[in-house]
Amino acid sequence: MLEIKNLHARVAETGTEIIRGLDLTVKAGEVAAIMGPNGSGKSTLSYVLAGRPDYEVTDGDILYDGQSILEMDPAERAAAGVFLAFQYPMEIPGVATMEFLKVAINSQRRARGDAELKIPDLLKKVKEAAGTLEMDMAMLKRPLNVGFSGGEKKRAEILQMMLLEPKLCVLDETDSGLDIDALKIVADGVNALRSPERAMVVITHYQRLLDYIVPDTVHVLSRGRVVKSGDKGLALELEKNGYAGVVGEAA
Ligand SMILES: Nc1ncnc2c1ncn2[C@@H]1O[C@H](COP(=O)(O)OP(=O)(O)O)[C@@H](O)[C@H]1O
Ligand SMILES: [Mg+2]
Repeated sequence: MLEIKNLHARVAETGTEIIRGLDLTVKAGEVAAIMGPNGSGKSTLSYVLAGRPDYEVTDGDILYDGQSILEMDPAERAAAGVFLAFQYPMEIPGVATMEFLKVAINSQRRARGDAELKIPDLLKKVKEAAGTLEMDMAMLKRPLNVGFSGGEKKRAEILQMMLLEPKLCVLDETDSGLDIDALKIVADGVNALRSPERAMVVITHYQRLLDYIVPDTVHVLSRGRVVKSGDKGLALELEKNGYAGVVGEAA
């Protein structure tokens, strides 16, 4: 589903290289965890996957379903089924969360050649998904993410993901800012989306999230490259011994 080959990417404005020869393959049905110390390039990788214009790919390729997505803009990637849950979700003043969801869902449906959802159908879908996440419908009347707590922002991200039904989900530090109950709800939401047709890339600094979202594979990032890959045992090893051993080995 996702094949990243020798990816090099830099900050467009300054030319600082951050992703330095990264290789990663994630198959359909797989949940891959990306771990790594602060500053290792985890968030940058998610931005590059989403196609943010402030990062430039200078070498290598990103294949999604066998096709390079480098020439696709963020909206085209989203329409093709790539979803990114940000570490720091953007606040959108003046746009009610419900309105945002409606526009997001229907623009994707249009891009895929499906009919737009009628309001009652949309409301029903949103209600159902919000219910699983134990989100109050009143929250959806508020502008997206404005004044939301850390936990509420993460739930709003997972809600979007549930409604958009992407094929490739990239979750950047979905655990940060969550108390343990909220963490469980978010993890349940993610687990409910696990499917043989869908791949998930779960980025996390700590092992804790992976107690709830058990990954098939674990990859350690250091200085913009994958320096070690393994199964869920690798995450436990990192929790016990820290990153120094793994990162040191590779240096
Ligand atoms: N726009 C930018 N300009 C300069 N440096 C950046 C920029 N974005 C990220 N970096 C640097 O790239 C490195 C990786 O950052 P990031 O991808 O956020 O790491 P992580 O998510 O693993 O903590 C850090 O050293 C960070 O300071
Ligand atoms: Mg980060």
